Amino acid sequence: MELSVEPDAAATAAVVADRLLEACCQDRPLGLATGRTMEPVYAALAGRWSALPAGERCRLTGRWCSFNLDEYVGLASGDPRSFHAFMAVHLVDPLGLNRQQVHLPDGGATDPDAEARRYRAELQAAGGIGLQLLGLGLNGHVGFNEPPCGADSRCRALALSATTRAQNAADFGGDPAAVPARAITLGLAEILAAERILLVVTGQRKAPILRRLLEGGPSSELPASWLRRHPAVSVIADRAAAPWLQG
Ligand code: GLP
Repeated sequence: MELSVEPDAAATAAVVADRLLEACCQDRPLGLATGRTMEPVYAALAGRWSALPAGERCRLTGRWCSFNLDEYVGLASGDPRSFHAFMAVHLVDPLGLNRQQVHLPDGGATDPDAEARRYRAELQAAGGIGLQLLGLGLNGHVGFNEPPCGADSRCRALALSATTRAQNAADFGGDPAAVPARAITLGLAEILAAERILLVVTGQRKAPILRRLLEGGPSSELPASWLRRHPAVSVIADRAAAPWLQG
């Protein structure tokens, strides 16, 4: 895995936004993530987007196709706490995309297992992911692949861990019990099938898990560690997340 350490979250977001802008005009769809780490990334992308000449912006808008990693089960796309809503606010509206170009699993589906199969088939039909953007969970999850999780896990509905529900409680009035108990996520199989992977890690609270990831071998106990098997992974961190590398 190639690692680069940027001074802060804003510099990290700038680097990642540049990579996304490059990748969004390539043939295979982008793989996108949600979460606080991604907010400055999408803001930086929106800034670059609005600075493009109108013709170029129009060309890129027409070509846009992306697939998100995950969605909460039980939240319909109109729910403001859903990842659908997150993407509308941070990406679709600022870039002027059509919602149909930004694919996510349907958390409001009556049969989440069937929805996970449908979403996997939809991604396969679109050719699989080109560049996959990933954040890192405090317990080492990517997407919502909670530990333990094998490298061959596929798109599926699963139970969220207590750690993850606590991590994401801020969007649910601070109450972990209010965070949906289940989610649909792409699996490690679909993530590892991407041509290239960009793992973005910012902030001091991610330092312990990033260090475990960089210093350990692949293991089901740390789902992100399966990325070590991929030939083209870049980890972009800020100094707060990688303090032992300073100096
Ligand atoms: C969430 C999402 C991931 C995200 C990660 C980190 O639960 N399912 O896609 O990348 O955990 O979130 P954050 O950036 O808010 O720390």
